[in-house]
Amino acid sequence: MKTAVGSLLLLLVGGVVSVEWKHSAVLDNNFLVLWTPDEKDVTFEIQVKTLGYVGLGFTKDDGRAGADMVIGWVDNNGQVHLQDRHVKDASRDPQMDSSQDYRLLLGYENKTHTVLRFSRQYDTCDPRDLKITVGGCDLCSSKRETQSNFLRNTQKRARFT
Ligand SMILES: *[C@@H]1O[C@H](CO)[C@@H](O)[C@H](O)[C@H]1NC(C)=O
Repeated sequence: MKTAVGSLLLLLVGGVVSVEWKHSAVLDNNFLVLWTPDEKDVTFEIQVKTLGYVGLGFTKDDGRAGADMVIGWVDNNGQVHLQDRHVKDASRDPQMDSSQDYRLLLGYENKTHTVLRFSRQYDTCDPRDLKITVGGCDLCSSKRETQSNFLRNTQKRARFT
């Protein structure tokens, strides 16, 4: 009986963990983003070498102002947090959107990395979120080594395809 339950659990975990990603981009050596576009939504996974905050941003131009961001972290109790935010003023922390349009699917931290998997619709209908269109926006990364504050700079970008 115990074995049966054990293998069922393993199967379920296996089902959640094994995803084939259609696209990937290395936003910097320590920031990997994977994504799979679906009909109505896109599933993302970010694997970042930090135990602090991680963020993925969507922008249409070079400036980070106006960027649509998703920020997450794993707290000291192992609880995963994911927040839909936007950058109003590039010199300040991204502000919380009143409409939270990202769905957290999975998140964990190991000794070195924070991994977050989430999905969102292409068009969330929230004016604070950028409508994702193929080739129409850039992905940018942000991270911080500690959880005391958000990082205020943008590293490399990749084109969303
Ligand atoms: C932690 O997770 C990352 C991302 O999945 C992986 O690349 C790395 O090898 C893992 N490290 C350990 C110590 O398991």
